[in-house]
Amino acid sequence: MTPISTVCKTVTWRAVQLLSCIALFAVFLLVDWRGPSLQFQSWIGETESATTDAGVHSRAQHSFGSENVQLERDYLFLHNWSDDELLQRAEEMELQLQLQGEGAPSSISDHDSATDKLNGGARGMPSKIAFLFLTTTGLALEPLWRRFFQGHEGLYNLYVHSDPSWLRYHGSHRNLGMFWGRTVPSAVTHRSDPDVVAAERRLIANALQDDRSNEWFVLVSDTCIPLLSFGSMYLRLNATSSSFIDCGKGAPGPMMMSRYRARGDQAMLPEVPFSEFRLGLQFFAIRRRHAVMVIRDRKYWPKFNQPCVRPACYPDEHYIQTVIGNLDEPACQGTPTFVSWNGSKGGHPQSFGREDITPNLIQALQASQNGRFLFARKFKRDALEPLLALDDLLFDRSNP
Ligand SMILES: *[C@@H]1O[C@H](CO)[C@@H](O)[C@H](O)[C@H]1NC(C)=O
Ligand SMILES: *[C@@H]1O[C@H](CO)[C@@H](O)[C@H](O)[C@H]1NC(C)=O
Ligand SMILES: *[C@@H]1O[C@H](CO)[C@@H](O)[C@H](O)[C@H]1NC(C)=O
Repeated sequence: MTPISTVCKTVTWRAVQLLSCIALFAVFLLVDWRGPSLQFQSWIGETESATTDAGVHSRAQHSFGSENVQLERDYLFLHNWSDDELLQRAEEMELQLQLQGEGAPSSISDHDSATDKLNGGARGMPSKIAFLFLTTTGLALEPLWRRFFQGHEGLYNLYVHSDPSWLRYHGSHRNLGMFWGRTVPSAVTHRSDPDVVAAERRLIANALQDDRSNEWFVLVSDTCIPLLSFGSMYLRLNATSSSFIDCGKGAPGPMMMSRYRARGDQAMLPEVPFSEFRLGLQFFAIRRRHAVMVIRDRKYWPKFNQPCVRPACYPDEHYIQTVIGNLDEPACQGTPTFVSWNGSKGGHPQSFGREDITPNLIQALQASQNGRFLFARKFKRDALEPLLALDDLLFDRSNP
């Protein structure tokens, strides 16, 4: 072998290695960037025809226990629609309800009669609570929620928004439990970013179009717990025709002004004058008519969806609050979710762990502000066991 041919061979070999490397990297990037959409296209298959809650739920349960991981993945998501398609379907559903004489009902009895009409006279369809779970990882308190929901099938629906890469690697039945199969096509969210609100809008739109019996839209997170039994909660929600959402005007002053200007001094104008800018805690339990307002909103969202240029950026404490606060002021009845800012660090509220969970704590949370709260946050993963041990107290067995 001449030295020349050896050199040639080495050069060719290096080139092959380099090209393979580049090709591999390109595939990796493609999968990573287009992660969720690629997944939807390859995983969907049969899910499309199974978008009603009952369909997906029973099928999800049937395939549990299957050895076939791919099959499990096929049912992780409710559907593979894009955000635009989803919003369109949600709006079409509302239009259809309106044309049939019933859009965004204000009381449960109105809704029952509308549902009867839509189902061709099938009577006795009760209104449901849509639980919208916002998480980035799984739902560590799932066993507690399972006890809460047990025996109330037909009165609720679950929807989960999670981080796409977490879902890709961990979104199995084992990790999601009863929430598996209830995931909506999700996108990455960041703290202090409009993408958190985009996730909330996605959850609301999913729940609107998925089941016309969804009457209450309740936002919860993986660190929330219910403070009363399902039955009591249902009655409490039904007892008011309005919503539970914190959407006040905020104390006038530098705090509100700096939040208003987080996207630039004039960035919110002219659609959102400072006088219309609302403030409230993130978690809510809203009526269908208020959920519809959020989905139909074209005025505020483009403004709130702009990226922030200053640190005082908390879209989840302003956007939905601004929509509902301006379109239906009396709906601003306060948040349904207890939170404590004792010992707050870096803007994070107090977090209750294993050592903190006592009957006294639960009773204090339930009695807080004359017992007005339906949920409480934040609870750490290790709080699960002691919470389960107190489930009689939590879910008030004497008052199912
Ligand atoms: C959803 O999946 C179906 C079937 O695989 C496909 O025809 C459709 O284009 C997909 N839609 C989206 C929005 O990806
Ligand atoms: C819900 O409220 C409506 C209207 O106030 C009432 O007619 C209905 O009986 C209530 N339903 C339940 C289950 O309490
Ligand atoms: C928070 O602190 C206040 C005052 O120190 C106290 O009264 C209250 O019980 C604390 N709340 C919780 C949930 O620990």
